Amino acid sequence: MTDLFEKYGLNPNVPQHVAIIMDGNGRWAKQRGLPRASGHRAGMETLRALIETSSQLGIKALTLYAFSTENWKRPITEVSALFDLVVEYFVKEIDELHENGVKINVIGDIEPLPQRSRNALVAAMQKTHENGGLMLNLAINYGARSELCMAVKKIAECVTAGEIAVSDIDESTIESNLYTAGLPELDLIIRTAGEQRLSNFLLYQAAYAELVFVNTYFPDFGEAEYAATIAEFQKRSRRYGGL
Ligand code: IPE
Ligand code: IPE
Ligand code: MG
Repeated sequence: MTDLFEKYGLNPNVPQHVAIIMDGNGRWAKQRGLPRASGHRAGMETLRALIETSSQLGIKALTLYAFSTENWKRPITEVSALFDLVVEYFVKEIDELHENGVKINVIGDIEPLPQRSRNALVAAMQKTHENGGLMLNLAINYGARSELCMAVKKIAECVTAGEIAVSDIDESTIESNLYTAGLPELDLIIRTAGEQRLSNFLLYQAAYAELVFVNTYFPDFGEAEYAATIAEFQKRSRRYGGL
């Protein structure tokens, strides 16, 4: 188990919370003359190794960007295929995830999803609710700006109800009203497929996260490449504004 550290030359200073912008499924498929949905399925197959590697390295939380609030702009056929994959994923993987102690959580607004996909997500969260292993957060219909709007509304409601004073609002008030409340501080964001932007992902939480961009399309992003991004993280000097 610990030989991943030896195999990839890693030290015990692993990030506590890693987030991945899983990009490039479409280009991966196009390169092979396949429909975009095949790329998304191939991306789904990649998850097993990343989840296992995260657990083995002792990473506490892994947050995966699966569908953004902007992805509704895609053709309905692709959007439907993605939501069907959510169901397929949990049918295939839930038992193993549960056996491995993974705790599943969704960040984002799943209300507008098809009923079947919502059911699969809720069932996965309920089943793994008490697990103490890797916290696996799926960002589905997630957007950082909409998350911040939600947090502002919740805080404003508390103020209106007289539960808190405006002068009491601080960073911890905001943090406890984000989807990521209770998760460890975000240490590392990885984006695959070459684009160097956040695309409305974890804008507040990214304040002091290290960013690593790789050119590999997500379906080809396996254990070795993942370990290489952790090695890159370990080379960074994190100063948080200090010296
Ligand atoms: C997957 O990659 C990300 C999702 C929105 C599911 P893309 O579908 O964006 O792939 P590219 O960027 O078109 O290659
Ligand atoms: C970001 O990828 C969203 C997900 C990975 C789910 P996109 O492919 O949607 O981002 P843009 O359009 O390149 O910014
Ligand atoms: Mg993309």
